[in-house]
Amino acid sequence: MTITEQRTKPAKPSVRSQSLGVSGIRKIFERAQSIRDVIRLEIGEPDFQTPENIKEAARQAITSGRTKYTPGAGMIELRKAIADKLQSENKIHYEPIEIVVAAGATSALNLSMLAAIDPGEEVLIPNPGWATYAYAISIAGGVPIEYKLDRRRDYAFDKDYVNSLVTNKTRAILINSPNNPTGSIFTERDLYAIAELSLERGLTVISDEVYEKFLYDHAPGEVSPCIGSLPDMKERTIVVNSFSKTYAMTGWRVGYVASSAPLADAMAKVNTAANSCVSQISQIAALEALTGPQNSVKEMISVYKERRSVIVKRLNEINGFECPLPKGAFYAFPNITGTGLSSFDLAMKILETGHVATVPGSSFGSEGEGYVRLSYSNSTQNIEVAMDRISKLF
Ligand SMILES: Cc1ncc(COP(=O)(O)O)c(C=O)c1O
Repeated sequence: MTITEQRTKPAKPSVRSQSLGVSGIRKIFERAQSIRDVIRLEIGEPDFQTPENIKEAARQAITSGRTKYTPGAGMIELRKAIADKLQSENKIHYEPIEIVVAAGATSALNLSMLAAIDPGEEVLIPNPGWATYAYAISIAGGVPIEYKLDRRRDYAFDKDYVNSLVTNKTRAILINSPNNPTGSIFTERDLYAIAELSLERGLTVISDEVYEKFLYDHAPGEVSPCIGSLPDMKERTIVVNSFSKTYAMTGWRVGYVASSAPLADAMAKVNTAANSCVSQISQIAALEALTGPQNSVKEMISVYKERRSVIVKRLNEINGFECPLPKGAFYAFPNITGTGLSSFDLAMKILETGHVATVPGSSFGSEGEGYVRLSYSNSTQNIEVAMDRISKLF
């Protein structure tokens, strides 16, 4: 190739990057940008503002010049506060050296895969499940293998079936409860079955708990049980969590991963190499989130609970929709097979004609076909208008 040809030729993206697909959510999101009065029910982030005490802690961090690098694993004060939270709420004892602060759960998942999975090893992921899991595994050179959740049994875990998917290359199983997109939660029985499978087959459990506080039929303040608290499971579990959803802090990019000291050390190395550290300002804000008043979290959850009733009631009144009451997260996941449309065509019709953005269930794996995800992190008023618009279409 001549120098002139080289000059005009753009740099080639890596094969690895090309293997990451464009998710259905992204397509809807891009189309929704160009519709003026669209109601955004496709979005997976809280519509609330970050609580004022957290913002104030960040302002003070800036004013006092706490704007520097921190250790790659995160500020020790924050890691201690996370260890305290895991002890008091999740009943697992961690030393701060077993905790790594990451840029949200997304980064925590990437660190987990890069530190715990070798190229060619398989990781079991839920179907339906969050599309990004497969990407994090692929980036690390691992192989995502989907396991179906049983939709007829409220997306329960079927141990015998998942056991049949385990090969000599399977290294880990990823779980997500409360689940995005279904809003279902694993029962204690499910968690014991997963723990048994992990012990019998030598699998690491990667537990994505970002929606742990989004539970609507539990006592206020109660969290979803953590698999790491079951007998012999702490050493086998990697807990992934984030400040994004609980404290309405998606843009601050702060989350964490709790595991064993050797894995945490490996993740800290990866984090240092890839990011140096999470912004100190965000870490100070996260420390305030954990140690400051928690009433705003309770208030947000009670608002989500009210919206859940509204959206589920209204969805069940629409011809062709059937919506169970989700137990957690902030998504409704109705079955839409009664409309005769595929989930992508339905989401497009609702967007183009009704100006309501939703996500086709097929974006969450083959088991999501026949469903659509609607987020209720939008005001009750907007949800009502969105439901009026969708009802008119069917
Ligand atoms: C199940 C699940 N895990 C992780 C994340 C990522 O959260 P974060 O903002 O902490 O990266 C999301 C965001 O939508 C999610 O739905």
